[in-house]
Amino acid sequence: MAKKFFALIVVLTMVLGITGCGSQSTGNQQGDTKKTEESTEKPKNEKLVIGFAQIGQESGWRDAETFSILQEAEKLGVDLKFSDAQQKQENQIKAIRTFIQQGVDVIGVAPVVETGWETVFKEAKDAGIPIILVDRRAAVPEDLYASFIGSDFILEGNNAADEMAKLLNNKGNIVELQGTVGASAATDRMKGFKDQLAAKYPDMKIIASQTGDFTRAKGKEVMEAFLKAYPGQINGVYGHNDDMVLGAIEAIKDAGLKPGVDIKTVSVDGVKGLFEAMAAGEANVTVECNPLLGPQFFKACQDLKDGKTTEKWIKSEESVYRAETAKDDLPNRKY
Ligand code: AHR
Repeated sequence: MAKKFFALIVVLTMVLGITGCGSQSTGNQQGDTKKTEESTEKPKNEKLVIGFAQIGQESGWRDAETFSILQEAEKLGVDLKFSDAQQKQENQIKAIRTFIQQGVDVIGVAPVVETGWETVFKEAKDAGIPIILVDRRAAVPEDLYASFIGSDFILEGNNAADEMAKLLNNKGNIVELQGTVGASAATDRMKGFKDQLAAKYPDMKIIASQTGDFTRAKGKEVMEAFLKAYPGQINGVYGHNDDMVLGAIEAIKDAGLKPGVDIKTVSVDGVKGLFEAMAAGEANVTVECNPLLGPQFFKACQDLKDGKTTEKWIKSEESVYRAETAKDDLPNRKY
């Protein structure tokens, strides 16, 4: 399945012409986007022309989101200009400026961190190009973006704390693997979890918390350090995403312990790899965060192009999944 997924990514990459950094068009629809000397109004593209500034490829979740965007663009015949910023905000900003010059209809961006977007979003606004925030938020005034499409990360953190409480009978020591520092997905999942412990579970403590940058490799590295620093004291690991907990599972096994049994796990995303770990008895819970945002994104783009107003927050539908049902859930997982 993983092979099939990546084969599709490769094919779509070839079809859609993705570049590593910077952006590239999927079609030659630029002729009608040039401004005339008489008019400063942005001329309308016939086809939907969209720029998408993606973060990178840090996790299975991110790959699934990229795939959803590419697949939907292909299905709808959108002229998509896609940029992979390799986890760097400056690359995302560069890509947005390129999209503005290209006169796209709408710009989608998954902001790697929350701050530092105001200037470039203002440039897009001045050029008459709406911005849609996809999956992560940006700390900017509301008039600088049309919509945010994505999850309630604070609620995910609340749910993760409730699940951890059930696993630990309301008592125990937890280590936390944070996502990218400054990313809304990390800040809010941290807050949601912490606030829930403070409000409902006074005997559950976060004894250590460090960033694993949303990657499996760093999740493993940080968990190894936690296991060394707190031998025999860790009851649960909370990961801001599944990939980091998959890395932590390796570290727990290397330390001669049983993940999912000696150390309980709760993470966010719902990627297949985590379901496989739950089915194998090595993980306990995943709080779903839906990456399949392509259909909602392009629907909002079309609405904006048609002059309609879109909702400020287009929310994703999500659930919580536990080890008990993982074997049955696995065949239905789409990412
Ligand atoms: O912004 C969503 C987060 O980004 C996902 O939970 C994580 O896996 C990804 O890298």
